[in-house]
Amino acid sequence: MKSPEEPRIIIALDYKDKISTLALVDQLEPSLCRLKVGKELFVRCGPDLVKILIDKGFDVFLDLKFHDIPNTVAAACQAAADMGVWMVNVHASGGRKMMEYAREAIQNNEHQPLLIGVTVLTSLNRQDIAEVGLDLEPADQVLRLAKLANDSGLDGVVCSPQEVSALKQEIGQNFCLVTPGVRPKGADIGDQQRIMTPSQALTSGSDYLVIGRPITAHNEPLKALKNIIEECQNI
Ligand code: C5P
Repeated sequence: MKSPEEPRIIIALDYKDKISTLALVDQLEPSLCRLKVGKELFVRCGPDLVKILIDKGFDVFLDLKFHDIPNTVAAACQAAADMGVWMVNVHASGGRKMMEYAREAIQNNEHQPLLIGVTVLTSLNRQDIAEVGLDLEPADQVLRLAKLANDSGLDGVVCSPQEVSALKQEIGQNFCLVTPGVRPKGADIGDQQRIMTPSQALTSGSDYLVIGRPITAHNEPLKALKNIIEECQNI
């Protein structure tokens, strides 16, 4: 799925506007990183900004976590594929049919993004999921949804670095795992809870690392990115 040389770091562009987004992006290089556009930036700046990033040569992960009836999610994934994004995601809790429709919608497209599932949001604990009717450990639900995502033809899931080794073991090495919650040594932890360093996450088997503030809030973002890449090369 990935070669050792391809960029493994996805920078989370958690900005409010195009000017601040491009101020960062213009300091970066597509050979070193990929970019993630989430809900806030997309709602504010839309497909036009995504196209600008793609035209600059960057692979874009469109992190909109689609969750709706199968037909609607399939159409949204098709639209993302037409936009030329590299990765798009859907909530695995939308069910098998929704994920299969999403897969079918993009599989004949000329450009096929990686299709990734979201399992249990890391903001939810055992009590939170019990309140919505799931009386089980979040980790068990993560595994159940990751297996369902795999059976439904998805390429992988977003998960915490702590879940990586169990998921690779249960589902297989080719199942693509994308992990936020990554902090280089010495970086501010912020609101992240169960973190790993970039090299620990890659050693556990993570395929792509989503990193935001340790790079975007650094006074020299390119230097911060290169330091992380160097740390990862020494594993
Ligand atoms: O700044 P930071 O490195 O914490 O950014 C992480 C990015 O990954 C943010 O865009 C955040 O929304 C996203 N994310 C996360 N934890 C998850 C899923 C997504 O931090 N479980």
